Amino acid sequence: MKGIILAGGAGSRLYPLTLVTSKQLQSVYDKPMVYYPLTTLIEAGIKELCLISTPHDLPRYKQLLGDGSRLGLTINYREQAKPAGIAQAFLIAESFIGSDSVALILGDNIFYGGDAFGEAFTEFKSGATIFGYHVQDPERYGVVEFDVNGQAISIEEKPKQPKSHYVVPGLYIYDNEVLNIVKNQKPSARGELEITDVNITYLKRGTLRVSRLTRGFAWLDAGTSSSLHLASAYVQTIEKRAGIKIGCPEEAAFRAGFLNLEQFTELTALMPNCEYREYLSLIIAEANRLNNEK
Ligand code: TTP
Repeated sequence: MKGIILAGGAGSRLYPLTLVTSKQLQSVYDKPMVYYPLTTLIEAGIKELCLISTPHDLPRYKQLLGDGSRLGLTINYREQAKPAGIAQAFLIAESFIGSDSVALILGDNIFYGGDAFGEAFTEFKSGATIFGYHVQDPERYGVVEFDVNGQAISIEEKPKQPKSHYVVPGLYIYDNEVLNIVKNQKPSARGELEITDVNITYLKRGTLRVSRLTRGFAWLDAGTSSSLHLASAYVQTIEKRAGIKIGCPEEAAFRAGFLNLEQFTELTALMPNCEYREYLSLIIAEANRLNNEK
């Protein structure tokens, strides 16, 4: 399976923060926002990635992440000239996707808590898998309605009268059919290729699975200054309490087996002295201790 990180958009709600710097490069507590969705894809075992952003911001992402080899990955880059909709990502990345299935994650979505996505990825064969998350303000999102058996029966984009409190977060898994679906799709009234329309097509075909995320799971989107601040506070709270890091791609790449201990140690040694390096050094020390005990 291939992975796409969509990190373009206007970022107008974060103005003036986004005058110079892309939304998904802003800090969420102790690291750039894009580290979080990148980590989610690495945890899902995805090694071939494509990052899409604006022509203006793409060079900054290349500077940050390079070709991915540092993390045992490959990262391709593609430009989205104008923010013409989330589903446009599949057309932009068509040559990258090839004949594979693909997971798309939004660059400003932060997920945390347990192994909520593990099964969705390992069991994915065909069709589409998306998620449902309970929120207070469903009218801002794509809203899913379930029947008594827990089957999704409708999805509506930003409805005035939402049929449920379950909305679709920015992580979507599709088979290769998504390319045909988007090619035949018309832009919405707001001129965008809507991801909700893709999901509705799969729903009509009877090949959409909507997996409900449990209460203990956190989904944060960092699109406004207030939600960005709350996301930072959340990450700080968990990290300080538990002595772990959320959204640490180096750690995720090591735990996923993309990097061996030697490569992980070398990568860490290149970092300046900082809290981030100290954290990774603790993981290395623990791995060495376990190896010596074997
Ligand atoms: P939004 O937050 O809906 O849009 P935005 O980032 O342009 O922000 P604003 O509304 O403040 O102007 O987009 C959700 C995510 O999808 C975000 O990470 C940006 C990304 N995106 C693109 O990269 N290209 C697009 O065409 C669209 C619509 C969104």
